[in-house]
Amino acid sequence: MLTRTYRLDYQPPAFLVDRVDLGFDLEPDATRVRSCAYYQRNPQASSNVDLILNGEGLQLNCIFIDDQVLNPKHYQQDGNSLRIFSPPDQFKLSIENTIVPSANTDLSGLYLSHHNFLTQCEAEGFRRITFFQDRPDVMAEFTVMLRADKKAYPVLLSNGNLIECGDFDDGRHYAKWHDPFKKPCYLFALVAGQFCCNEKTITRADGRPALLQIYAQESDIHKTDYALQSLERAIKWDYTRFGLDLDLERFMIVAASDFNMGAMENKGLNIFNARYVLCSSDSATDDDFDAVESVIGHEYFHNWTGNRVTCRDWFQLTLKEGLTVFRDQEFSADQLGDGRVLKRIDDVKMLRQHQMPEDSGPMSHPIRPESYLEINNFYTATIYEKGAEVIRMLHTLLGEACFTKGLTHYLSVNDGTAATCDDFVSSMEIASGRDLQQFMRWYSQSGTPQVRVTTHYDHARHIFRLDLQQMPAHGHDHKPLHIPLLCGLLDEQGVNLLSDNVEGSRLIELRQEFQSLEFTQITRAPTLSILRNFSAPVHIIFDYDDEALLRLASQDSDDFNRWEAGQNLALRYFLRAYQKTTPDSVLPESYLTYQKNILNDGSIDAGFRALLLNLPSYERFTEALTQDPLQTIDPQRASAIWQGGQSDWAQALHTDWHKAYLEQNTQNTQNTHNTQNQTAYSLTGQGSRRLQNLALHALLIHPNSSDLSHSNQTHPNDIIALAERQYQLSNNMNDRFAALRNMVHDANANANTRTQALLNDFYTRYQHDSLIIDKWFALQASAPTISMDQMHALIEHPDFSYTNPNRVRSVVHNFCLNNPRAFHRLDGAGYDFWLTQLTRLCRVNVQVAGRLARALEHWKKFTPAYRELMLTRLQIAQQKIYAKDVVEILQMALY
Ligand code: BES
Ligand code: ZN
Repeated sequence: MLTRTYRLDYQPPAFLVDRVDLGFDLEPDATRVRSCAYYQRNPQASSNVDLILNGEGLQLNCIFIDDQVLNPKHYQQDGNSLRIFSPPDQFKLSIENTIVPSANTDLSGLYLSHHNFLTQCEAEGFRRITFFQDRPDVMAEFTVMLRADKKAYPVLLSNGNLIECGDFDDGRHYAKWHDPFKKPCYLFALVAGQFCCNEKTITRADGRPALLQIYAQESDIHKTDYALQSLERAIKWDYTRFGLDLDLERFMIVAASDFNMGAMENKGLNIFNARYVLCSSDSATDDDFDAVESVIGHEYFHNWTGNRVTCRDWFQLTLKEGLTVFRDQEFSADQLGDGRVLKRIDDVKMLRQHQMPEDSGPMSHPIRPESYLEINNFYTATIYEKGAEVIRMLHTLLGEACFTKGLTHYLSVNDGTAATCDDFVSSMEIASGRDLQQFMRWYSQSGTPQVRVTTHYDHARHIFRLDLQQMPAHGHDHKPLHIPLLCGLLDEQGVNLLSDNVEGSRLIELRQEFQSLEFTQITRAPTLSILRNFSAPVHIIFDYDDEALLRLASQDSDDFNRWEAGQNLALRYFLRAYQKTTPDSVLPESYLTYQKNILNDGSIDAGFRALLLNLPSYERFTEALTQDPLQTIDPQRASAIWQGGQSDWAQALHTDWHKAYLEQNTQNTQNTHNTQNQTAYSLTGQGSRRLQNLALHALLIHPNSSDLSHSNQTHPNDIIALAERQYQLSNNMNDRFAALRNMVHDANANANTRTQALLNDFYTRYQHDSLIIDKWFALQASAPTISMDQMHALIEHPDFSYTNPNRVRSVVHNFCLNNPRAFHRLDGAGYDFWLTQLTRLCRVNVQVAGRLARALEHWKKFTPAYRELMLTRLQIAQQKIYAKDVVEILQMALY
């Protein structure tokens, strides 16, 4: 029953389709679907005489070939397919089937969300709508006729252009849409229901107009300005940066409350999880604003990288996703101007926190995998984030101009087709004249490679030598990779000694297992700044001394490496403390002085200061811990060390934090609160808000009361009052929510009643806005101190629901996947909770369950007590769960 699909088994489709006409009679309990498709035998195909269509959970009503009813002995329907025996070489196939959208809780195919019809077809949802060769290399021109009750479903949308609409006399109406571009069926979409629309007409580069529309529920439409502005900026940016313009007269985005993923790039009709569309200063945090901008950019950029050129098969997924993530990262970075490093740092943090652990665990796979049971499980951090890093390395190796030339070449030679990763890299080869065959190994080798670095300085000859060794992550079958290493050399004053480019960096191309290189005319022993801007997704192993790291953290002209050095320093202290039996303090004086200097250095941008000051997350710490194969995670111990580091940091700088808080707070209240222009709101003051809220976080991590007597620190009660005041007086959600979060996550137990009062206030204020209530749930489920009783109370809360993915993720996924300090408990209660919720979710939504299933995959990285507890739950899960998505995850975890 479970079939594994292998990349090398690819066969071209037996038949091609030129045109598809779809007709829908939309009814919640029985929607009739008529499809009429024009097939012709594929000259490229091997001699499979039958036409095999996918179809899942469909009630087949009738089949016609060339308008003749097809005799039942000429076809066969079983489980998930429909086989037409020996059809002619060219024919018209008409099929009518019925589906039940109201029963579709998996939210794949055609489903209902708040009484509105929506579709989600990627990767394999179209087969839940009608019979078709549901694979991305079958591309056709779609015409779609929608019919529905006019009162219940006044808005009827599909891909492309509206060519006709009108009323029937029975209260129903219709709309006919035509998409002029050939597309695979996974890009098909329809939307029907009650929506309002925020729209704007823009002028494209060639002077032609285009209509941009954002659809949302009436009560949410006032929160769509930022999305519309972001879309317009994305369109302009893609033209300016890559010469790619919008190819449609009409581009629509619909906000959906129930959605499995973040958003979907259906041609001309993007469907979004409402959380990535709706935002306004009084409902969304700065991170929410940033997420809206990047997801809007991402889905829009797919219009070229994904839609005009799509993937031949799902093994090529990174072809569209890695490339498009790279593009959306660049879009967001470019919006920041001089502050683009802030975006780079956020992206690398993500990579380290999610992708690298994935790549060192049982789910490790190359960005182009070799096989899968369920493709939905391969929308991973590796395909996306590492995939984007691979594209970024090409950009680094080739340079902006050559890269753009290669991208343009790729899009023009493959336009209107389904391509492979080889096609992409081959375009880059043609544009640059370079041999990228070795580079291609990044597509087939998994794991994070290590690069060992040793240096030698020859005083007499003024030569600095670098000895590099690359070590693949997984075993001996892995061959050396082509790794771009951007390096600088600093003197004691922090001055760059190299002058290869304006940044004082040299690009080293590491291609051999061992490679040495020499820098000449280096008159003083330099400090090495390696992997600037994180030029490759590798681990650098280099034995810096503390002083060198401090120098880089204070002086490196490469802001990424400046941040990186500070993080590495903190991590090394965490790791040292973890290995000691009785650590007294975690962070030494020298590091705390460095932090103090940064905090008080007003010449550094506030947002960048906040990043430099923020200590590595607990997750980053445990990730670093497990890079040593001999180390295991003891959550209790790791958590205590990490917490110890936090309080050293908070206390040593207490008065400075207080001063910084007041400064930033004054500045923020002076910032005019621009409610007219959401883009201006989001950009101005973000850095200062970040720093203010980091300061509040630090202030709330307060010392034991015994320490208070002999310190000049502000009394905890006064700090709590500060947080309460910020909560009450903020004119924006970012700061109000930050005050609440810091109270819930940091304030100690003495403040419980006051924290609870704020939580209650927040709930009452916002109970009618489900996206804000998601935050309220998420905040509690990610509190490091949450108890199992409190978790169960969240599940039993009247506003909790298993059918809404956002709500489930806020509570269940957040706790099991994003709250390691509360989830891993020696009584195993966290794991029992996981098992119960997983079993329950399998019956509602397998994709959401599949994601949750991954919460225990890292069991082998833990100390024996935890490992055993996890293993038994995994085994029980494997015995009683049959959902394909989950089975695959459990299989890999237990392997
Ligand atoms: N094509 C995906 C959406 C998708 C993913 C559909 C998996 C079906 C299964 C879309 O372009 C995407 O990548 N969305 C991301 C957000 C994006 C900003 C990285 C998502 O939904 O998480
Ligand atoms: Zn995508």
